[in-house]
Amino acid sequence: MTNRISFLNGEFLPHEKCFVHIEDRGFQFADGIYEVTAFKNGKLIDSEAHLNRLFRSLKEVNIEHNLSKEWLTEMTLELFSRNNLSDGFCYLQITRGTHIRTPSCPKNLTPSIIATVAEGKKMSDEEFSKGFRVMTHEDIRWKRCDIKTVALLASTLINQKAKDAGVDDAIFVRDGVVTEATYANAFIVDAAGMVITKNPDNLILCGITRNRLIELAKKDGLRVEERGFSVAEMLAAKEVFLTSSTLILRPVVEIDGKVIGGGKAGEVATNLRKLYQEFAAA
Ligand code: PDD
Repeated sequence: MTNRISFLNGEFLPHEKCFVHIEDRGFQFADGIYEVTAFKNGKLIDSEAHLNRLFRSLKEVNIEHNLSKEWLTEMTLELFSRNNLSDGFCYLQITRGTHIRTPSCPKNLTPSIIATVAEGKKMSDEEFSKGFRVMTHEDIRWKRCDIKTVALLASTLINQKAKDAGVDDAIFVRDGVVTEATYANAFIVDAAGMVITKNPDNLILCGITRNRLIELAKKDGLRVEERGFSVAEMLAAKEVFLTSSTLILRPVVEIDGKVIGGGKAGEVATNLRKLYQEFAAA
């Protein structure tokens, strides 16, 4: 992207000129939250749900602000427009602000707000059909995974561990229950055709794509259950797939070396992907 423009604390600036202070709380404490929202054919996908989750994250970490949904939406659209993009993703991050390093959470700061947009990676039909390989890993994250914080070190380390092991991603397991992948929610389809994904609680991020796909699946007549499932249940499943705003739906065809679903994208995953594409294009 040439002449890339990003947003920093009230200004649209050349990307290479965007810097934050060394004592920004996000930099020193990962004291901030974020959202990633897709933009398709000039339209933000599930914008209201992403904004609701953003406001919830801000509230859960007590970041004071006077932001409105309208202002954030306008700013995001303006950013896509200034970058001449009609498809892509917006990364929006809000930290508590800048303060001399202190172990508690200082009050009355001005939050730092940054946003970037980019085209992002698109998954081809071939990549989708071929599917993805993953490994399981102990969920070593904290117990507030429901907040979309920028404290992503555990996720990045384990995502890298997966790549170093020659697979695409890792699926976290806590106390015998599959939680989610490093940056995506996990679904299985059991032998009876039941679509199952972990119930939302403090141990997973309740994905916007997850919620939308549950709605589309139910509308299409599929049965959906929101509950925890074990690794054994996942390995015995007909289909396993991961969902996120960036890659929508990734069929998993191998877990810890064991082939799932005959080693290719399954029927339910293929159908749900099509339904999501229709929803996003509408
Ligand atoms: N990640 N779980 C985790 C831990 C995530 O980081 C994400 C998204 C999801 C899926 O949420 P959604 O469907 O709302 O995108 C689940 C984003 C894409 C990221 O960090 O880039």
